[in-house]
Amino acid sequence: MHLKPRTAAIMAALAVVVALIPHHPAMAGPDGKAIAGKSDCFACHNVMNSEGKKMGPSYEDVAKKYAKDPKAAAMLAGVIKKGGSGHWGGGAMPPHPALSDADTKALATWVLATKGKEKPKPAKPVKSATP
Ligand code: HEC
Repeated sequence: MHLKPRTAAIMAALAVVVALIPHHPAMAGPDGKAIAGKSDCFACHNVMNSEGKKMGPSYEDVAKKYAKDPKAAAMLAGVIKKGGSGHWGGGAMPPHPALSDADTKALATWVLATKGKEKPKPAKPVKSATP
């Protein structure tokens, strides 16, 4: 196929634009919060403790609980997909078989990235910062 120089230039420019899109941070993979909103997560979970108590743990608490666990994202993705119980004492997390692996991974990653709003206590510096 022979292209006119102008057409080729436009196609080259488009190729650059298309190549850049996936690298934009806001578009890197599915958005966990949006998936949670479309699913039923917020029926049982609040993101922050300040929003009040629901049946399931707040995502702030989940993030805190697994902050030092490098395998937490994979484990939680499994819990979201297959359901789980016994980690928070009472109540069961229902399975979500309709969610894709990419969705459950995005949800788990987003939950683990939830940051508490409360200020860190200034008194004693915490020593165990090693991951
Ligand atoms: C019917 C209520 C309900 C719904 C809907 C629900 N959860 Fe849960 N979830 C729970 C309960 C209860 C627990 C605590 C389970 C336990 O004790 O291990 C939990 C636990 C969790 C945990 C921590 C799991 C662990 O083992 O520590 C995550 C992460 C989570 N849910 C994410 C989600 C996401 C994401 C969705 C939406 C796709 C969702 N939940 C929908 C009730 C629910």
